[in-house]
Amino acid sequence: MGVGMDDLENLRAGVLKHISKVSDEGELENLRLRFLGKKGEISLKMRELGSMNPEQKMTYGPLLNSLKDEINSALIAKKTAFQDTALDERLRTEWLDVTLPGRVRGEGTIHPVSQVTDEVTEIFADMGFLVAEGPQIESDWYNFDALNIPSHHPARGEMDTFYMKHPKNSNEPPHVLRTHTSPVQIRTMQASGAPIKVICPGRVYRADYDQTHTPMFHQVEGLALDKDITMANLKWVLEEFVRAFFEVDEVELRFRASHFPFTEPSAEVDIRCSWSGGQLKVGEGDDWLEILGSGMVHPNVLKAGGIDPEKWQGFAFGMGIDRIAMLKYGIPDLRSFFDSDLRWLKHYGFAALDQPILSTGLSK
Ligand code: DAH
Repeated sequence: MGVGMDDLENLRAGVLKHISKVSDEGELENLRLRFLGKKGEISLKMRELGSMNPEQKMTYGPLLNSLKDEINSALIAKKTAFQDTALDERLRTEWLDVTLPGRVRGEGTIHPVSQVTDEVTEIFADMGFLVAEGPQIESDWYNFDALNIPSHHPARGEMDTFYMKHPKNSNEPPHVLRTHTSPVQIRTMQASGAPIKVICPGRVYRADYDQTHTPMFHQVEGLALDKDITMANLKWVLEEFVRAFFEVDEVELRFRASHFPFTEPSAEVDIRCSWSGGQLKVGEGDDWLEILGSGMVHPNVLKAGGIDPEKWQGFAFGMGIDRIAMLKYGIPDLRSFFDSDLRWLKHYGFAALDQPILSTGLSK
């Protein structure tokens, strides 16, 4: 019989020695297979029990079993030790200092043009004006003819218009980058008829470049049509706007007779201000600052919009958004608006939650 007490003792000592010398979990698994696997040494010895007589079985059965248990325990203990070491190593290397200050994340700002557009929208919304938009590439008809600016009119030349490429074999005049937001007046009249109260903010384009001009800039158009709207309404609306926008109680507006093809009569509007100390103060002083063009909508314009001038009348105005942003927030150069200089944006930009609440400034 291949099993003897000494054999078992030798086997035991050999196995435990092997286990103690193993250096990783892989080797340990190989050892397990070598001794306890189906064809492992212990398993083979177990099998030999079958051919033993009952006394031998009684002696060796329990011995083999306890040896198997002992080896198993030794394997598990070694495995646990490996895992503990690995965990210790991870705890040593993967620690996290939760007391470290957080990384500073750069936060963007709201561009003054967006902020002022929101402010303007808010104020006019409070007076019942809706917002309308139109395309930036506009047909010659919407940008000029419909606004009572015929081909020979000097205003066409004065506007420094950008023309789109002229399609081959076409008799149509080329489209233009809209030179003002006024064409949105026509589109709104056509789309919804009278009565109307809208403002139309958006980008406009003219070939011009200096401290107060950029080839792209922003305007907001206003249009109010009803049966009995007069210039008195225009004056009140603009006064309320200026008061709320510049956040001053006392404002004085000056309506200066002017000429626009799309309004009759027309007026340019100035606000009283002072520039003392190089700082603009609205509502005081002896200077006047032009902020917009306006007037009573010309009957030809109403007709172009599909509206009967015998029944409806109203006012319109057009104002430069960038210009009033410069005035309100003391920004000296218009070109800097569109340089995308992060330092500039950080300085003049607004926090995302800096919502305009200017409408509370409206007098009742
Ligand atoms: N469209 C004019 C411009 O760009 C501004 C303007 C003046 C608009 C008078 C109007 C208006 O609606 O009535 O210079």
